Amino acid sequence: MRVLVIGSGGREHTLVWKLAQDSCRPQLFCAPGNAGTTALATNLPIAAEDVPALLAWAKQNRPDLTVVGPEAPLCAGVVDAFADAGLRVFGPCRAAARMEGSKQFAKDVMRAAGVRTARAESFSDAAAAIRALAQFSLPVVIKADGLAAGKGVVIAATRDEAAQAIRSMLEQKIFGTAGATVLLEEFLDGEEASILALVDGERTALLPSSQDHKRVFDADQGPNTGGMGAYSPAPIVTPDLLPQIRDHIILPVVRELKRRGIVYQGLLYAGLMIGPRGPQVVEFNCRFGDPETEVVLPRLKGDLIPLLQACIDGTLSESLVRVRPEPCATVVMASGGYPGSYQKGIAITGLDDAAKLKDVCVFHAGTAMKDGAVVTSGGRVLAVTALGKDLKSAVGLAYEGVAAIRFVGAHFRKDIARRAFAR
Ligand code: AMP
Ligand code: GLY
Repeated sequence: MRVLVIGSGGREHTLVWKLAQDSCRPQLFCAPGNAGTTALATNLPIAAEDVPALLAWAKQNRPDLTVVGPEAPLCAGVVDAFADAGLRVFGPCRAAARMEGSKQFAKDVMRAAGVRTARAESFSDAAAAIRALAQFSLPVVIKADGLAAGKGVVIAATRDEAAQAIRSMLEQKIFGTAGATVLLEEFLDGEEASILALVDGERTALLPSSQDHKRVFDADQGPNTGGMGAYSPAPIVTPDLLPQIRDHIILPVVRELKRRGIVYQGLLYAGLMIGPRGPQVVEFNCRFGDPETEVVLPRLKGDLIPLLQACIDGTLSESLVRVRPEPCATVVMASGGYPGSYQKGIAITGLDDAAKLKDVCVFHAGTAMKDGAVVTSGGRVLAVTALGKDLKSAVGLAYEGVAAIRFVGAHFRKDIARRAFAR
């Protein structure tokens, strides 16, 4: 069996790593992949966003399954293009991917489905948006409607700051067309958690819960990043919450989409805020989370391909998901300067030493090969991951892995899973 994975981050290395263990021993391809995926897959020099080139390769090489990692190709319709060519592909079609591609669309669907989420209003006129600020208490959340690579959210402590964010999106157009509509949103209090839900158009099977660490510095200080670490399970997601999340969040959304003629097949990621009144939705993503995937997939027992196939075939059942009891943690090592600007091409040492540690897995996020050596090529460079008999051991092992690895400028959070330990 031949499987193509689209993307180049830690999520895709983890997908490749998990798929490589499937009992059918698939032949793997990764477009474009990174230095980590080269050990398990053939990297293809095709950008994840280049849908025509991906399609051309797939038409010629006929993979039996394609798994799409990032949101950009999903929102650009890569699944529709592959499906039209008779290729089997895991991921939502373009219309369904709007759950991530348009925050306004996601809010409409949630409203119609009766899913609890922050109150929001959308605007395309800056003056009208600024007038409406009076109706929101502080802090207030300002969001670009479209894809802004995780940078489109401002939590404004004052109305001046909010007005400035509105003007930067609607007038200065800092996010281009992605910011042509903005949402003003009520601020939600609580603790965040991520639920990755497999969906087959009708049914869902939730994967184990996890928690991301979005801010760059310890104690959740500093600017937002793509995610500086994660762990699974997240104890804030108590077992009684899982059926609630399935029945009052995931399934109502899937049904509402179906009512609109949109079949959601693939992974639906619910970013939740869990407060005293239970979970509310902060956002939906149309794909596996990153770095959540790095801690969720190692906890799955058995093969991944049958789960993905069941989503495509409409034969999903919860019994297909079997979970190992061991918790998993990942620590992201980032380039100096990230999430601001950073240098690339810096040599990384110690990867072999980290790999020798039992139960430690180093997933590459932003790496490349240069003259036979592994160098940095992105902001998030590595996701150093470990399973442990309990969360403390998993986190401890992941940090042992981090300690073995060096590159100039590397920084990482030292408090991964602190919320779980504080409980
Ligand atoms: P998003 O891109 O929608 O996930 O937002 C990025 C981050 O901003 C989230 O992970 C939250 O930490 C924060 N955030 C977004 N919306 C809200 C909200 N309504 N209330 C509180 N925090 C929020
Ligand atoms: N970890 C957040 C995301 O994948 O969007």
